[in-house]
Amino acid sequence: MKKDNFTVTPWDVKGDIDYDKMIKKFGLTPLTNLPEVFMKNLLFRRNKIFAHRDFERITQAYLNKKPFVMMTGLMPSGNFHIGHMILAKQMIFYQGLGAKIYIAVADIEAYNARGQSLEEGRKIAIEEYITNYIALGLKPKNCEIYFQSNRSQNPAKANAYYRLQNLLARHATFNEFKAVYGEISPGKMVSSLLQASDMLHAQLPEFEGRAVPVVVPVGIDQDPHLRLARDISKRFKSYKFVQLSSTYHLFVPGLSGGKMSSSDPSSYIALTDDPKTVKKKVNKYAFSGGQPTLEEHRHLGGNPDIDVSYQWLTFLEEDDEKLKTIYEDYKSGKMLSGELKAILIEKLNNFLQEHQKKRQSAKARLDEFISIKEPYN
Ligand code: TRP
Repeated sequence: MKKDNFTVTPWDVKGDIDYDKMIKKFGLTPLTNLPEVFMKNLLFRRNKIFAHRDFERITQAYLNKKPFVMMTGLMPSGNFHIGHMILAKQMIFYQGLGAKIYIAVADIEAYNARGQSLEEGRKIAIEEYITNYIALGLKPKNCEIYFQSNRSQNPAKANAYYRLQNLLARHATFNEFKAVYGEISPGKMVSSLLQASDMLHAQLPEFEGRAVPVVVPVGIDQDPHLRLARDISKRFKSYKFVQLSSTYHLFVPGLSGGKMSSSDPSSYIALTDDPKTVKKKVNKYAFSGGQPTLEEHRHLGGNPDIDVSYQWLTFLEEDDEKLKTIYEDYKSGKMLSGELKAILIEKLNNFLQEHQKKRQSAKARLDEFISIKEPYN
């Protein structure tokens, strides 16, 4: 068999990802035939969310007006950037559909797997992630944001969450742990089990009161975490969980192609970047599908499928017609790379200008979502 020229694991993503191959390799199902409301969301409409496991449970719950949960976790590292918006938009979308939203701040995982202090994790989670979620439209109603290190002030709830983490241990194997982080250390094992409890605990009597469908939307690199949680929950007999559902979304490419990474500011636009920085980054770093000279470009046309500015617009431009015109004009050579970049810069800066105002008011509303009192004393 031909060797893949890409790598996708929870600890490493590189190369040209062949998503069809990933679907086969991981045993996922392509996402098709969704109810109409999903098509209003560009991530579903444009196949940015492209595969799933057991998602029918979620569409059925939605159609039958039955309760369901959307659960996700955030790794509090670096600046909140355009790539992080994919997940934030899904939270807000599911909340709009009536789902209960659970968001775990993975501060224990950051501590164990990355050597980050709880204080630092907390600060980044609040200032970067949670503030942006609120500014993007997350509502406090039907939304629980918690820290892995501090699940709840209610002892019955806190006990149930950490109890589940501990009981799941018996049902996991060494190799399953290895698949999640590539290597095993006690801290990483503990973090995998805690993440499994993140995904499953909403169904306990202490939380939603009964077993309910839960969807965990992730980038495909996080699938080993899901497989672990799904497999051990099946082996766990003392409580009957509804099997977890999951969806898989594409990565927004980094500006120069490759992965967008919090540790490389030239690969992303942060939601706090100012207009000048946005212009500079896009003009300097955005990989272009254009031809080397003006004559060649007019003659041969550009390649929107590899052009990062165009790819970003497919995540940001809501208007399908507008996007199609850009695609055709660029491909035919009528639109130049500089013009395409200018469209992206304007789109980003218009969005960011509004968003940054909303961020200011979001800061004042943090206490509607989390207890902002210092928890470590
Ligand atoms: N491991 C995830 C990451 O690296 C964070 C995470 C923790 C998570 N708990 C979760 C993700 C539960 C989804 C569901 O980003």
